[in-house]
Amino acid sequence: MKNEVRVFAPATVANVAVGFDILGFAINAPGDEVVARRVDTPGLRIKTISGDGGKLPYEVDKNTSGFAARCLLQQLGKEESGVELEIHKKMPFGSGLGSSAASAAAGVMAVNALFGMPVSKAESLHCAVLGEQVADGAYHADNVAPSLLGGIVLIRSNKGLDIRHLPVPAELHAAVVYPEVSILTKDAREVLSPTVSLQQSIQQSGNLAGLMVGLYEADYALIGRCLEDVIIEPQRAQLIPHFRQVKKAALEAGALGCSISGAGPSVFALCRGAATAEAVAASMSRVFREHNIPNHPYASPINEEGAKIITA
Ligand code: HSE
Repeated sequence: MKNEVRVFAPATVANVAVGFDILGFAINAPGDEVVARRVDTPGLRIKTISGDGGKLPYEVDKNTSGFAARCLLQQLGKEESGVELEIHKKMPFGSGLGSSAASAAAGVMAVNALFGMPVSKAESLHCAVLGEQVADGAYHADNVAPSLLGGIVLIRSNKGLDIRHLPVPAELHAAVVYPEVSILTKDAREVLSPTVSLQQSIQQSGNLAGLMVGLYEADYALIGRCLEDVIIEPQRAQLIPHFRQVKKAALEAGALGCSISGAGPSVFALCRGAATAEAVAASMSRVFREHNIPNHPYASPINEEGAKIITA
């Protein structure tokens, strides 16, 4: 057992164009950090929150990270232990990069690591998902699972957390750009039609199945052909300023495919090779900059490690 640990949980790209609510992957940065520390006073409390502009609650019940951490303490039968948390938000809210999911993943990872990892990350996932539910009201793992576990994750069903890791082709990299515009996930879900046409379903199923095969066979051309979202992207594109121009720039710079990260406003592209991902991120960033929209580009391999201890 340790007296203090600092952990990191990464940002994630949910949906991955053709897997609305059922696919997600992790990138190396940005991400959140949480410190867990043993103290004498029994129970879990949040001592410090930084980087949130004063927006996050200190009440454990209302805080994604705190709720997730306390849930895991209870799962471990250690709710009487004294633990304090420091939560360091190092990524923006409402960015489409899984900010609340990273906080929840870091919360469970911090408590698990403090007690020497008595349960596997997979065994702590349920508490992390419950933590994120505090933020957005829904029990869904398309951001939390890749943030905690790393890799590209298929959520076959949120019920019972029936999830599977998909293979990560060696040269697969992501380019992600977060433009500083505000989109609430709630609003981005409200614009969606509750029905899809048979034709849309056929096309999207073909692309989702093809993407799975592309990942298993490291067939980059197939992956590229399949990153075409005919259901969600056409409905949400209007929420992101200059999205079509950004996507065009990504494809012209060599991206395999490009779409909206989670509920947006971040835009992601999958690329073959680190150099292409850097060039694609720079091209997408340039379009936002030309329209005077401050933005943050990231280029990263798929993060296969997920949440990790950074100081024990
Ligand atoms: N799959 C979710 C969406 C991600 O696109 O609305 C945001 O929680």
